[in-house]
Amino acid sequence: MNMTFDLAGKVAIVTGGSRGIGRAIALGFAEAGASVIIAGRSAEQLEAVAEEIRQKGGSVLPRVTDLTIPDDIEGLARDAAETFGRIDILVNNAARSFLRSLLDLREDGWDKIFNTNVKAVWLLSRAVARLMIEQQGGRIINITTVGAEKAEPGMAAYDSSKAALKMLTRCMAREWAPFGIQVNAVGPGLTRTSFSEPIWSNPDIEKHVTSMLPMGRIAEPEEIVPAVLFLASDGASYMTGHTIYVDGGALTG
Ligand SMILES: NC(=O)c1ccc[n+]([C@@H]2O[C@H](COP(=O)([O-])OP(=O)(O)OC[C@H]3O[C@@H](n4cnc5c(N)ncnc54)[C@H](OP(=O)(O)O)[C@@H]3O)[C@@H](O)[C@H]2O)c1
Repeated sequence: MNMTFDLAGKVAIVTGGSRGIGRAIALGFAEAGASVIIAGRSAEQLEAVAEEIRQKGGSVLPRVTDLTIPDDIEGLARDAAETFGRIDILVNNAARSFLRSLLDLREDGWDKIFNTNVKAVWLLSRAVARLMIEQQGGRIINITTVGAEKAEPGMAAYDSSKAALKMLTRCMAREWAPFGIQVNAVGPGLTRTSFSEPIWSNPDIEKHVTSMLPMGRIAEPEEIVPAVLFLASDGASYMTGHTIYVDGGALTG
C-alpha cells in the first residue's frame, strides 16, 4: 500500500478551482501528480490557474461551468471523462454565500445558496459516481465549514446548507461504500480568500475575529490542502463518511 500523498496517474475534478481554496487544492493535486479539471464560471480566472499548473509541468483542463445549471454539471463530468478517460477524485469545493439575517433573507437568496452548496454537489457527485461505479472506485471530498457546527449571525442559509452537505457526505458514503467510493469532507475555519475578504480587508474586524480564535489568526488557502490530499490518497483507504476540520481550534469551545 502506498502511504504517501502521491496522486500520480489520478484524474481529479476540483469545482471552484479558479481561486481561493479551490485554486490551492488544484495546484496541490497537480504537484502530487494528478491531472486536474478545474471548473468555475469565469473563463479568465480558470485560464490563469490552468497556466500556473502548465508552467509547473502539470496536466489541466479548465472547464467553464455554472453549477446551478444541471446540463452544465452533466457536461462537466462528460468532458472530464472524455478528456482523461476516467475520474478518480471529485472535490466539491465551489460555494456561495452572503451575509443576511434570517428575517431579511429572501426566498430566492436561500435557493441560490442551497442550489450551489447542496443540490449541485448531489447532481455532480451522482454523475461522477456513475462513472466511478464502472471504474470500481473513487474518492469524493466535499468542502464544508466550521459553520456547519456553529451558528454565526447572518450566515443562517450558508451554515444550514453546509450542515446539509455534512449529512449528504455521510449519506453518499453510506450508499456508495459497496461500490468502492469513499466520501469525506474537509471543514475549513476562516481562510484568506475573496469569500472572506470583508473580514480580513478591515484590520479592526480582522483583529476582533482573530482574537476569538485559539490560534489567533486566520488560515491561508494552502493550509487547507494537506487534509484534502490525505483524503484523496491511499493513506485514507479505510476512511469514509467523516469531516476533518482545519480550523485553528475554532471548534474547541
Ligand atoms: N474562505 C473561508 O473563510 C472559508 C471558510 C470555510 C469554508 N469555506 C469553503 O471553502 C470553499 C471555497 O471557498 P473560497 O473561500 O475559496 O471561495 P472563493 O474564493 O469565493 O471561491 C469560490 C469558487 O467557487 C466558484 N463558484 C461559485 N459559484 C459557482 C457556480 N455557480 N458555478 C461554478 N463555480 C462557482 C467560484 O468561481 P466563479 O465565481 O468564477 O464561478 C470560485 O472559484 C467553499 O466551499 C466555502 O464554503 C471557505
